[in-house]
Amino acid sequence: MKYFTSAILLLITASIAVTVDAIVTGTYFDRIVFVIFENTAYGTAAALPYMQDLTTRSNGLLLSNYFAIGHPSQPNYIATIYGSTAGITDDNSHNVAGNNLVDLLEAKNVSWKAYMENYPGNCFTGTFAPSGTDLYARKHDPFISMNDIRQNSARCAKIVPLTQLDTDITNNAVPQYVYVVPNQNDDGHDTNATYAIQTWFKNWLEPKLLQPAFTTNTLIFYTWDEDDNTGNNHVFAGLLGTPVVPPSNHNDSTAYNHYSFLKTVEQNWNTGNLNRNDVGATAFTQYLHHP
Ligand SMILES: *[C@@H]1O[C@H](CO)[C@@H](O)[C@H](O)[C@H]1NC(C)=O
Ligand SMILES: *[C@@H]1O[C@H](CO)[C@@H](O)[C@H](O)[C@H]1NC(C)=O
Ligand SMILES: *[C@@H]1O[C@H](CO)[C@@H](O)[C@H](O)[C@H]1NC(C)=O
Repeated sequence: MKYFTSAILLLITASIAVTVDAIVTGTYFDRIVFVIFENTAYGTAAALPYMQDLTTRSNGLLLSNYFAIGHPSQPNYIATIYGSTAGITDDNSHNVAGNNLVDLLEAKNVSWKAYMENYPGNCFTGTFAPSGTDLYARKHDPFISMNDIRQNSARCAKIVPLTQLDTDITNNAVPQYVYVVPNQNDDGHDTNATYAIQTWFKNWLEPKLLQPAFTTNTLIFYTWDEDDNTGNNHVFAGLLGTPVVPPSNHNDSTAYNHYSFLKTVEQNWNTGNLNRNDVGATAFTQYLHHP
């Protein structure tokens, strides 16, 4: 009888395991949602009412001294998961060898997906999509440039269109590492920061903030890839979510950059590092506390 009960329990456990990935508890948060916008000076973003609203909420924090890595766009995106620009100084298609954040996450069983708005799926490697538009742009999708993702069908299948996120929320199957790239209208690239933030981001984010499948123990981090093409490259960045316990002025003026994002993820799940610029980066963890 005892043996029989254990066998049934094993069966139940096994069937749960195939449908829902186990959560790997993090030091500060159990999920991170990253959203990245395009080409805007710090001051322009700071003047937007929705940015002021988000950073001053009870679980909101401004990272007022955050810097992008380079120009044009692509090296910044590569930096966020590779720990260096891989020597890339343009927006052309590149194939990048060597390990990246996905190797570190998978070694710890931390689930991930890259949600690219208007991505056609099926491991599409072209420059733009859908045909006749430039809505999805490969230069903003660092995952497809990584050889060990592009050449691995199971990994490549985790680069998905952004609409998949609503499905994943409905199914309570949002991965623990969520990288969101809006299309070139919604990220401000072909429009402007006002449209990207006041219209697209607000309408996209607010309903999700009511969904526990999205928000539970989730750190939301949003920033810009680069500024308006100056040498300074100061960009706006903010944190939101129950893991954030902000100081009374909601302002962390520590110097951070895109490598800080990578380091924060590495520290949260104790993944080790990529032995690149992530090693010396400062994680933005000082106002984080696991809920
Ligand atoms: C990851 O999951 C696999 C399969 O369930 C397991 O064998 C392995 O020990 C896990 N690794 C870690 C670091 O938890
Ligand atoms: C920003 O873009 C929106 C829609 O694309 C447009 O209506 C608005 O006039 C633009 N604002 C500025 C300051 O250019
Ligand atoms: C944040 O702090 C920095 C450094 O003290 C300061 O220069 C900046 O004006 C502050 N920004 C806000 C919005 O409080």
